[in-house]
Amino acid sequence: MRELVDGYGRVAKKLRLSVTDRCNFRCNFCMPKEPVWIPRSDVLSFEEHARLVRILTSMGVSRIRLTGGEPLVRRGVEKLVKIIATTPGVEEVTMTTNGFHLQSFAKTLAEAGLSSVTVSLHSLKPERFEEIIGVNGVFHRVLEGISAAKDAGLRVKINVVVVRGCNDDELYDFAELSRRTGITVKFIEFMPFDGERLWNLERVVKATEMLDILSKRYRLYPKAREHGSTTRYYGFRDSSVGEIGLVSSISEPFCFDCDRVRIKADGKLVPCMFSRDEYDLKPLLRSGATDEEIREFIRWAFSRKFRGVEAMLKTGELPQHIRPMYTLGG
Ligand code: 5AD
Ligand code: SF4
Repeated sequence: MRELVDGYGRVAKKLRLSVTDRCNFRCNFCMPKEPVWIPRSDVLSFEEHARLVRILTSMGVSRIRLTGGEPLVRRGVEKLVKIIATTPGVEEVTMTTNGFHLQSFAKTLAEAGLSSVTVSLHSLKPERFEEIIGVNGVFHRVLEGISAAKDAGLRVKINVVVVRGCNDDELYDFAELSRRTGITVKFIEFMPFDGERLWNLERVVKATEMLDILSKRYRLYPKAREHGSTTRYYGFRDSSVGEIGLVSSISEPFCFDCDRVRIKADGKLVPCMFSRDEYDLKPLLRSGATDEEIREFIRWAFSRKFRGVEAMLKTGELPQHIRPMYTLGG
């Protein structure tokens, strides 16, 4: 098997597959007030998504994360989960979701072969949460979704996008939740992919700062960082349950061992989320190209992968707003 390698020798192992750009929430660090949706006819069919997954697994990509927008607003997505989970070469299928539909879908998703869900929950204060996501009356429903996912046997993680002056006073509350339930809580640095361009460096709480805050109350120990991960995990010395993840996408993005490739809902391959480059696979998929032709196009596109933001950060340059998160799914 010839692996998928970029110009800097980085090998793709993980695929983030956005299955829709639509979402029933309007998180203020993600959606613009007036989102421009991908036309429905441009969104890939499940057959097209599945074909791309097959082609990528033939090049060594083995871990697939379904994202959105919100993947659970794509009707029948459990069918896609099942197809992907049974594709030879796929080691795991996971999903990042806002949790709204988990109550109804957790069991079906687990049966379809999903192994883990990451639920975005940015505040434990119902009013604040609902203000962030722009929808009222759904906080408890998301919590119930998280319980349903646990009950269904899915591994559950929580994503918290930390924004200074908004929810950075809740780190201890989330840590307590993790210690109580065993759920991993990942604190994510605010990235410049918000729809309204409110991002600036002052609003970013860096992972090192979060670690300092958490260390004032807890005795944390670092776990080995997994290859290609932007997350550093920490356990609690005095507790066998609970885990904190610090996602340093801005302050320390670990671009040098990045092993991801991303595909948008309309079939555009995005080698790096910080780069403008997109490579449209749809014309090939829809014009009768062979798997080999698509493989070669993907190789070419991936060989041009942007080096990353690490070098830029060293020179003090700030990452730019490239595309809002709902179009790519993180
Ligand atoms: N910065 C960091 N994370 C973000 N997310 C959405 N927008 C941003 C942003 N601007 C989160 C989502 C989800 C994950 C894919 O990324 O809430 O948890
Ligand atoms: Fe929807 Fe996720 Fe964006 Fe929130 S962050 S608006 S849940 S896609």
